[in-house]
Amino acid sequence: MDKAVLYERIIQQLQELFRKSEDPIARMATVSALLYHKFDYYFWCGFYLLKDNELIVGPYQGPLACLKLAHNKGVCWAGVRERKPVIVPDVHKFPDHIACDERSQSEIVVPVFTPEGQVYGVIDVDSDRLDSFDQVDARHLQQIAGMIFAG
Ligand code: SME
Repeated sequence: MDKAVLYERIIQQLQELFRKSEDPIARMATVSALLYHKFDYYFWCGFYLLKDNELIVGPYQGPLACLKLAHNKGVCWAGVRERKPVIVPDVHKFPDHIACDERSQSEIVVPVFTPEGQVYGVIDVDSDRLDSFDQVDARHLQQIAGMIFAG
């Protein structure tokens, strides 16, 4: 199936599911589970949350990940700084990429904003294949990120 179509279906399903709770942790856990199980190229999928100027792991699915990311290093911090999606086709070519699992080959990070427009954290997805992510993933993950705090 075309991945844009699959994302659209997932977004519809999330809209239904989110009626049950506005709690951001419940919503992030639901996003992680749904995305991880629907896309075969998703190797790890979850959230890193900005707390006291640190990025701490939030709800996720996949292999064990780093609990905390060294300040201002790596792809997740780049997403926080740039406030827009970061697509990394080959993590080995990203200068200060943080490898939580050596099997990861490509990655996308999309910021999540609070209703006030501050960065709350990021959605992070790793693939065990090179060049897995493009603007279709970025656009839909941005839409999903925008649903975490929606009414
Ligand atoms: N690779 C990320 C760290 C998190 S893991 O991918 C789960 C980074 O460079 O920020």
